[in-house]
Amino acid sequence: SSANHYDFFIKEMEATRLCHEKTILAVNGQFPGPTIYARKGDAVVVNVFNHGRKNITLHWHGVKQPRNPWHDGPAYITQCPIQPGSNFTYRVIFSEEEGTLWWHAHSDFDRATVHGAIVVYPKHGSAYPYTKPPHKEIPIILGEWWNAGVQQLLEETQRTGGDVNISDANTINGEPGDLMFPCSKKGTFRTLVEHGKTYLLRVINAGLTNEMFFAVAGHRITVVGTDGSYLEPFSTDYIMISPGQTMDALLVATEGVDSSRFYMAARTFASNTNIPVDNTTATAILEYANAPPSTSAAPPEYPNALPAVNDTDAATAYTAQLRSLVTKDHHVDVPAHVDERMLVTISVNLLPCGGTNKTCSGPTGNRFAASMNNVSFVNPAIDILDAYYYSIGGVYDPDFPNKPPIFFNFTDPGLLNQSLFTERGTEVKVLEYGTVVEVVFQDTAILGGESHPMHLHGFSFYVVGQGFGNFDSNKDLATYNLVNPPYQNTVFVPQAGWVAIRFRATNPGVWFMHCHIERHTVWGMDTVFIVKDGKAPDAKMMRPPPDMPRC
Ligand code: C2O
Ligand code: CU
Repeated sequence: SSANHYDFFIKEMEATRLCHEKTILAVNGQFPGPTIYARKGDAVVVNVFNHGRKNITLHWHGVKQPRNPWHDGPAYITQCPIQPGSNFTYRVIFSEEEGTLWWHAHSDFDRATVHGAIVVYPKHGSAYPYTKPPHKEIPIILGEWWNAGVQQLLEETQRTGGDVNISDANTINGEPGDLMFPCSKKGTFRTLVEHGKTYLLRVINAGLTNEMFFAVAGHRITVVGTDGSYLEPFSTDYIMISPGQTMDALLVATEGVDSSRFYMAARTFASNTNIPVDNTTATAILEYANAPPSTSAAPPEYPNALPAVNDTDAATAYTAQLRSLVTKDHHVDVPAHVDERMLVTISVNLLPCGGTNKTCSGPTGNRFAASMNNVSFVNPAIDILDAYYYSIGGVYDPDFPNKPPIFFNFTDPGLLNQSLFTERGTEVKVLEYGTVVEVVFQDTAILGGESHPMHLHGFSFYVVGQGFGNFDSNKDLATYNLVNPPYQNTVFVPQAGWVAIRFRATNPGVWFMHCHIERHTVWGMDTVFIVKDGKAPDAKMMRPPPDMPRC
């Protein structure tokens, strides 16, 4: 088969971490799964064979798939799942992306173990915009490990309405590392570097829940890209990366005189200290080749620059440094004028227990839910793309937000113990082709509030503004960066704060928008944009492939 064709066999396998063996779903027997390599502008074909025992779909996170929502992947949004024993061929169309992206399952909690990196190189004949081209690249996939089965965790939270148990460890390239988890010593990820050479770290947060700080002991790194787009380079001792995001960073191997081994470490960042978090640290080892033997006996150096688990200032200071790279070859195209501004509140809330259960194990005997503008999204029984394309009624309501958010003091800590109930619905927003949309995500203090990584399919967006407290258009618009804002597909919305994003709706199709914390996704912090066809022939959605799975 050609370089642009991959076969993915999804199958159960046994895996042992923390001295605990369990059955996981994995692609081609690998965890994390295989890396997809492409060049800007390529199309890649991935034939997925479901040899597991449950329904599944795959998604190409951050790949815009122009006019091709059929192969985007979120279950019940753009397709029915691939059933056990069957296969489906995804066509992944790269357009403007360049850098690091990733792929993952987009059904239930399957992405805990069904995920991998996507590396997008510049076109043939064009180069990285860095002064020093990297000698080698090092993938750093951050994740989480549960000793329990993730499908059981999901079923448990759905049955009881309670929270999802925290993970037992963070992982780097699938391994917790030996610093805090001696039981996992053998598998610790190690990478060899040579003195004086430059390495490109491709960091991906594939975790279900945890935002993370990541640092390499003894080394400052230079961040050069995020979400498949270049950044104005800046040097830093640590990064903060939310689930869904990617960060590209250059590391120059110039240390290693007194030590020859350095820990790379990933620690959870948690904005709300009322929420129990895994406060452990995953580690991997960066080792200098040809180091004098006297240094290699010493324990690896520890990354003291790693911020503490609840260091919100460190997280926001990091994200405030992200700016798009602007050069004669790299441009931004920030819409100066907005057709539609939407204020979208994002909250964790409650729903009545329902069913035959009288009480649930969520707060005050109710069930956890999550919402946008106080509606908890419910997956329909057939996918929204089919319903839209074939005009099947009764599947979704095209009136998101069905009520604009009623203004209240969203971030008043007094809301902490106020249990604001949501309603269920399958609310989508329909956009005319070419509409310039500004979405202002507003965190609320209901149940305390927390930070949320908000992700949009089918687009990258410019992150034009960010602040704390309640968004106020009278004063906040003046603070926007319309010159070189970062171009992302997943943005960190801080606890008790807001973020404004802008995009042009020039990708016809059906595109999911949701929090990338997986329990918030399944609790309903989601909506969908339907972008209508434009007039030009190249502004129309592609026709459905003949082999779409049926529900
Ligand atoms: Cu990374 Cu909707 O996904
Ligand atoms: Cu969230």
